[in-house]
Amino acid sequence: MKGKNIWKKCLMFDVCCVCFLFLMVITGTGKGAKLQQGLKTAAGGLETIRQASGAAQEENVSGEKKKIALTFDDGPHPQYTPEMLVALKERNVKATFFLLGQEVEKYPEIVKQIQEDGHLIGNHSYKHEQLSKLPMEQACNQVGRTNELIYGITGLYPSYLRPPFGDWHEKLDCEVNMVEVLWDVDTLDWSSQNHAKIVEKVLKNVQENDIILMHDGYETSVTAAMEIIDTLQKQGYEFVTVDQLLFE
Ligand code: NI
Repeated sequence: MKGKNIWKKCLMFDVCCVCFLFLMVITGTGKGAKLQQGLKTAAGGLETIRQASGAAQEENVSGEKKKIALTFDDGPHPQYTPEMLVALKERNVKATFFLLGQEVEKYPEIVKQIQEDGHLIGNHSYKHEQLSKLPMEQACNQVGRTNELIYGITGLYPSYLRPPFGDWHEKLDCEVNMVEVLWDVDTLDWSSQNHAKIVEKVLKNVQENDIILMHDGYETSVTAAMEIIDTLQKQGYEFVTVDQLLFE
């Protein structure tokens, strides 16, 4: 009997191994967008259960950390963007900066630093006008001029565009092939300039794969971003750039 039990255990162990390997193969080869999406959806569903049971939430079931993207608009700012960069580096966090062409012209060395630190640089137009209210040529010039300015410093044309006020329409495709990036959580940090309010807004509303809208032109935004990072990292979130969030 003893021998038989051992054999049974071995058989069960083998079956478990086969199941485990099968799962590994599915997860490892699930590079197709649809399959990835399916896995992510499944992960999200199970995660809710794990949260409800109070279990650890370090990773979702596909073994990945929960992704989230911080985005900073309207910079670079001469004081707070460098402060933000130092604080992000200390926390090993990558973010996305949607830059204004007129500020890029003033502070090219900060643009260079953003790139050197491994963050993603996007286009936020030249001087923050509502693009759909401008004649087509002027609107396109706001985007194209900023792309050229960024290219002149980084050697890379931005692929991502955040139109001011989130206002864009298909007719404004300007013969540039850019991905429009909006947001899921608007911190309104520029309006409140209140550290506690900014932090609360994010922590109350945030979910996996969210894009957070902030601005790197205020001291309160820097301190709030750091508290958001420190808190969400403990909850198992990994901060990534928007291209990683949207396409990986
Ligand atoms: Ni803006």
